[in-house]
Amino acid sequence: MYSDRINALPPYLFAAIDEARDELIAKGVDVIDLGVGDPDLPTHPHIVEAMREAVCDPKTHQYPSYAGMPEFRKAAADWCRKYKGIELDPATEVLSLIGSKEAVAHIPLAFVNPGDVVLYTEPGYPVYKIGTMFAGGEPYPLPLTAENNFLPDLDSIPADILKKAKLFFFNYPNNPTAATADMKFFEKVVEFCKKHDIIAVHDNAYCQMTYEGYEAPSFLAAEGAMDIGMELYSHSKTYNMTGWRLGFAVGNKALIKGLGKVKSNVDSGVFDAIQIAGIAALCSSQAGVEETNKIYEERRNTLIEGLTAMGLEVKPPKATFYIWAPVPEGFTSMSFAKLLLEEAGIVATPGVGFGETGEGYIRFALTKPVGRIKEAVERMKKLQL
Ligand SMILES: Cc1ncc(COP(=O)(O)O)c(C=O)c1O
Repeated sequence: MYSDRINALPPYLFAAIDEARDELIAKGVDVIDLGVGDPDLPTHPHIVEAMREAVCDPKTHQYPSYAGMPEFRKAAADWCRKYKGIELDPATEVLSLIGSKEAVAHIPLAFVNPGDVVLYTEPGYPVYKIGTMFAGGEPYPLPLTAENNFLPDLDSIPADILKKAKLFFFNYPNNPTAATADMKFFEKVVEFCKKHDIIAVHDNAYCQMTYEGYEAPSFLAAEGAMDIGMELYSHSKTYNMTGWRLGFAVGNKALIKGLGKVKSNVDSGVFDAIQIAGIAALCSSQAGVEETNKIYEERRNTLIEGLTAMGLEVKPPKATFYIWAPVPEGFTSMSFAKLLLEEAGIVATPGVGFGETGEGYIRFALTKPVGRIKEAVERMKKLQL
């Protein structure tokens, strides 16, 4: 019944954990879910208010423009100038998105032919691989290891792969490892992509979720990046707006145009009222973002203290709301996730769910109040490891 592309999808590794979690909840167990990367805090009130007003205006009720309202694209360009130091032409170098996920899925359709290779970092957001498969491309994972600070080793890619490589997806601050990248790495990516004629796509979904003064750079700020690259931004994590489905792509004019061509044949843009709320998010005070980051920082410190007390070595990440922890000796990522769930009522995501190179790790999302995280730590301390 299903197409070959659906039948080729990798098995959903989280299904067993999801099922076990639902069974425990049904039995009345007090489960602490640190599994999914979905902010528990509400969208900032001034953004909700902008939406409330906009949705009452009948002018927002018709089809939106494919590329996004000019005001939204201008707000995105202004935001990028102010917070990321990059100059963009809102008319040609910015495109509205229904969240960054759809862009990740649609980009290969715009640029990849069957047989072309798409490089992506692994462990990683699963859609890089699946979007590539949907377009008939060949996904080629670049492993992220602790020894290399969770950055890919671009020099290790075989020549025959490089010859076929068309696109490279990378993401810093990174999900799931919480690693960050500096301008030196981005400059190296520009050089690499230019040399091998590869399109660079930087997924910057977590760039504003940062701690202790760290500022996550834009890939496009690297010299020459605009010649070969694009970057994806999302309102989801920055403004607690995962449910609204809003983001924007920026970068090289021809690349933005290519993505726009796919999108205009698949979707009909973002509801104008959501874009108006999105403008409010981008253009007004960012105090809410700072407050949210303080909350995540306290949660981060609480969980790290607990994991350290258990003998699991984790450095506090500078960004993202994930903790990527090695599992204790004698466990796989799946068996440790199972133990956490069954013996402590804690949901965490086994690293192998992000690709084979995620084996040996588990990801905690800091998406519960600090009191619940303290409770999770107390429960973990009682585990027989
Ligand atoms: C690395 C990364 N990219 C993209 C997304 C998609 O975000 P959205 O579609 O909500 O913008 C996520 C969501 O978790 C993510 O972790």
